[in-house]
Amino acid sequence: MNVSFKVNGKRVTLDIHPHKRLLDVLHDDLQLISVKEGCGEGECGACTILFDGKNVNSCLIPAFQADGHEIVTIEGLREWSGFETIERAYLEHGAVQCAFCLSGFVISTVAYLKDQQKENTGEEEIKTALAGNLCRCTGYTKIVEAVRDLAE
Ligand code: FES
Repeated sequence: MNVSFKVNGKRVTLDIHPHKRLLDVLHDDLQLISVKEGCGEGECGACTILFDGKNVNSCLIPAFQADGHEIVTIEGLREWSGFETIERAYLEHGAVQCAFCLSGFVISTVAYLKDQQKENTGEEEIKTALAGNLCRCTGYTKIVEAVRDLAE
């Protein structure tokens, strides 16, 4: 079946198997390798993308559901001026170790900062915003500190 959607600002049209996951289309077919498979069942957040501006797990979305929608991955954020600010905050706080989870955390950070309301910048709100992303290295404290800096 044919699907057509926008990814990182460009329209793509693909002929896909109806059971194919969006994760596989992005990572394998479109070579957007920032979108990673960790658990493959919606638990780890390594496959997080922006889908019409919301952070979602691409491993849980059948690719045909992307038809007519807009997707952004880390590859598409690199040209955005705010990306460097996020990158710097993560580095300054030592919020990166092996970096397998990093793309997913950054996507969720972008979604949080975009939706953030002034009163929602506390530690609990940030933890809630990042709750779908798992990190086995940093222990989360440094990641939360980096995002708090960005939110202020
Ligand atoms: Fe999608 Fe883990 S690979 S949430």
